[in-house]
Amino acid sequence: MDRKIIVAPSVLSADFCNIKNEVKEIKESGASWIHLDVMDGSFVPQITFGSKFIRDLRPHTDLFLDAHLMVLHPETFISDFSKSGCDSITVHYEACTHLDRVINSIKKTGCKAGVSIVPSTPVWVLEPILNIVDLVLIMSVNPGFGGQKIIPYTLDKIKELIKIRKDKKYQYLVSIDGGVNENTLTDVLKTDLDVAVTGSAFFASKNKTEYVDKFFIKNSSL
Ligand code: DX5
Ligand code: ZN
Repeated sequence: MDRKIIVAPSVLSADFCNIKNEVKEIKESGASWIHLDVMDGSFVPQITFGSKFIRDLRPHTDLFLDAHLMVLHPETFISDFSKSGCDSITVHYEACTHLDRVINSIKKTGCKAGVSIVPSTPVWVLEPILNIVDLVLIMSVNPGFGGQKIIPYTLDKIKELIKIRKDKKYQYLVSIDGGVNENTLTDVLKTDLDVAVTGSAFFASKNKTEYVDKFFIKNSSL
């Protein structure tokens, strides 16, 4: 069956001083999620924004707000981000000593709970919590910056997660994050994933609607 996947433009590559218009362009492009890269300058080398940015953004869009917390001690921020209006909160496996507890604390807020792993972290570390997460975010670049080149071996991790989901009848969505653009899209779509984050390529595209329309899988196995 042919399948349109969810496109989640990352505002990391947007003009923060023009964010209301940038978000309007995301809506007009046909994308349905907004990917919010929260960075603390410790877990990753860059600092971006906190929950106030999201609280201010929330009234201006009905799109799904997908917060990606690239922060140490994410457990201390769950309540704040859930109150800011996020629809999903994704934490990093590598930043959590007690991942099961953090995922459950996100779910308790009513937000969708996501977990992300950096390229060098294998999928098997997530096995114990795959039955409770709503989203698995596979980093296809080393986190911290937009505009990087995709790391090809990470695509195998997406295929592995989709096989586990099928075999175990789990419900999580599988998303990719980093280096998705017109040149890498064919290989990315071959993984049969559910969501694709795209930052620099989206905001650099001349025709955002045409770009978003390309996120279409022909003869998906799902
Ligand atoms: C990187 C972020 C990604 C990044 C994607 O740490 O998590 O979401 O913004 O940007 P592009 O699509 O430019 O690689
Ligand atoms: Zn991200």
